[in-house]
Amino acid sequence: MNETAMNLDYLRQDPAVAERFAKLHRRPVVLDVDKLTKIFPGGHGEGHLALDKISFQVHRREFVCVLGQSGCGKSTLVRILAGLDFPTHGEVRLDGTPVRGPGPDRGMVFQGYTLFPWLTVKKNVMFGLKVTGKPAHLAESEAREWIALVGLSKFEDAYPHQLSGGMKQRVAIARALANGPRILLMDEPFGALDAQTRAQMQSYLMQIWKQVDVTIVFITHDLDEAAYLADRILVLGAHPGHIQEYIENPVPRPRSPDQFRDPPFLALREHLDHLIHPPGEKKEEKLPITRMTVVGDDVE
Ligand SMILES: Nc1ncnc2c1ncn2[C@@H]1O[C@H](COP(=O)(O)OP(=O)(O)OP(=O)(O)O)[C@@H](O)[C@H]1O
Ligand SMILES: [Mg+2]
Repeated sequence: MNETAMNLDYLRQDPAVAERFAKLHRRPVVLDVDKLTKIFPGGHGEGHLALDKISFQVHRREFVCVLGQSGCGKSTLVRILAGLDFPTHGEVRLDGTPVRGPGPDRGMVFQGYTLFPWLTVKKNVMFGLKVTGKPAHLAESEAREWIALVGLSKFEDAYPHQLSGGMKQRVAIARALANGPRILLMDEPFGALDAQTRAQMQSYLMQIWKQVDVTIVFITHDLDEAAYLADRILVLGAHPGHIQEYIENPVPRPRSPDQFRDPPFLALREHLDHLIHPPGEKKEEKLPITRMTVVGDDVE
């Protein structure tokens, strides 16, 4: 066991941390991912193995972050959980029922803004409610409650192009939650936002999660984001996508950015860094660029 893993292990033995996870494990399992393997056609005849026997469980109202480098299969995993793609082997069960396609029990929020540009904020949030056959007046009052929850009541009648990126993602969260999903699947939802808005959105998301009976699977490649948000962090390795570790996050809740310099946060951060960027890993490749400046006119 390396030093960073030992530090983490030590922190997890803290009685308050141990009690927090004992409590979490007493909650029922909502999502059960069982030996999931995904092979895409292509490669040299035998196909491209993107995910290799991925198994993990998520408990009710747990916040799980899936962390891994680009190309390790995070989006493939979340698309299978959503029922938008299918595994080659293995199974996903939601509340014990195998996932066979998309369903209202799963809400999705992607990195790209996916609101309907021709609908107002309120109509965007009402959309899914009306599809399920809810009468318009009920859909409207429920949509307004969700919009209030994400703090955008003043913008109910605005169109997406009148909102900032962070506000659009808050509407996307309201729209996903309005359909009453058991689980919210988020694929790098704040990836396109600037650092400050991103930090604000992380805080909003934690506040929303506390108030709603929903379980969250949140994909990210940002170590700090995972350490700040998650109860547990599923670290994926690449080529093929496999589970490296499923880590219990020792950082106490409620979380705040003040904890970024505390020992549990730093120990976790260091361990994640060790897993994602192992020492001795090949350094960045140099680009084969031909010189295009005058000799002697050098910059550092
Ligand atoms: N439809 C597809 N057909 C063939 N190969 C695919 C397909 N979708 C993904 N892949 C391959 O599967 C692997 C995992 O891709 P995926 O998009 O899931 O990675 P990711 O972890 O989400 O990456 P990123 O962090 O860049 O979003 C990659 O090697 C990718 O090229
Ligand atoms: Mg991806």
